[in-house]
Amino acid sequence: PDEPLVLGIETSCDETGIGIVRGETLLVDAIASSVEEHARFGGVVPEVASRAHLEAMVPTIERACARSSVTLRDLDAIAVTSGPGLAGTLMVGVAAAKALALALGKPLYGVNHLAAHVAVDIVEHGALPEPVLAMLVSGGHSSLLLVPDVTDDVRPLGATIDDAAGEAFDKVARVLGLPFPGGPHIDRAARDGQIVIDFPRGLTSGRDMERHRFDFSFSGLKTAVSRWVESQRAAGVEIPVADVAASFQEAVVDVLTRKAILACQEHGVGDLQIGGGVAANSRLRAMAQSRADAAGIRLRVPRPALCTDNGAMVAALGAQLVAKDRPASGLDLPADSSLPV
Ligand code: KG4
Ligand code: ZN
Repeated sequence: PDEPLVLGIETSCDETGIGIVRGETLLVDAIASSVEEHARFGGVVPEVASRAHLEAMVPTIERACARSSVTLRDLDAIAVTSGPGLAGTLMVGVAAAKALALALGKPLYGVNHLAAHVAVDIVEHGALPEPVLAMLVSGGHSSLLLVPDVTDDVRPLGATIDDAAGEAFDKVARVLGLPFPGGPHIDRAARDGQIVIDFPRGLTSGRDMERHRFDFSFSGLKTAVSRWVESQRAAGVEIPVADVAASFQEAVVDVLTRKAILACQEHGVGDLQIGGGVAANSRLRAMAQSRADAAGIRLRVPRPALCTDNGAMVAALGAQLVAKDRPASGLDLPADSSLPV
């Protein structure tokens, strides 16, 4: 079909996402999150997330269908995140997708979570330029991807060598006594702060930059923030939370945007797309826009709800796979926690 109707299932972490897309149009994006159950542990607990997916799966599918007036038997295909992600949570989504595909007699498409984060921009801003340079920044990933074709050619240029960008936000938030997940809290706190502390920019100069041109490192930054806060506490000084948040955020955003623009320039790519939970960050959006403008690069960032994990991204990529006649997956599709792009 020209405009395939595809249901997408996302369970790679703590969000049960069900999206339905027709071609390049988003019909519904339904989500159930177990993030509040994880907050008291300060991070996602895989077993808790898996059980939450089991409980949320059927009601979330029903909600997606009800809100879009789509009947399951009208679907052209079922798409599901088959990896990377948490092994146990992926398995819940893959099992649900197989059951639906088998019961409805529809083709099943296993999709890569990272490629899906890129593909979601199609339902926001239309067909992707080819190639597009994608930067994916979330709690689990910080990657620069050269994407000639999101349905079968996604080339990693670099990634974090330690913590993901979102992980750094979450860890620094914890140091500052802010709740989990910390990214949005740091973003908000930073608005009242000044960029007055010069925190390190990992892998941006000298041999580190030569060897890791498009890689990231945020663990040194996190340690630097912890040390700074500890030294202030030891001296009995009150912690200027807003200033620390603003200065830390500036260091992360500076490195991310600098390397993303450099990757576009060195690979001759005129379009930059940013996705993943950290793409919701207001300072990242502003700095990426001004640096892209200065470099003559077009910037595409989906609305925040489509940057964090969701089912629409899986459906969006599924619809592309159907439209481009890519082969469907078998019912023996495995959940692969370390699936490469
Ligand atoms: O993509 P996502 O929902 O889940 C995965 O990790 O795959 O991303 C969640 C991450 C968390 O680390 C969270 O703190 C971060 O995205 N995040 C933010 C903001 N909103 C969410 N980080 C910085 N600023 C934000 N406004
Ligand atoms: Zn994600």
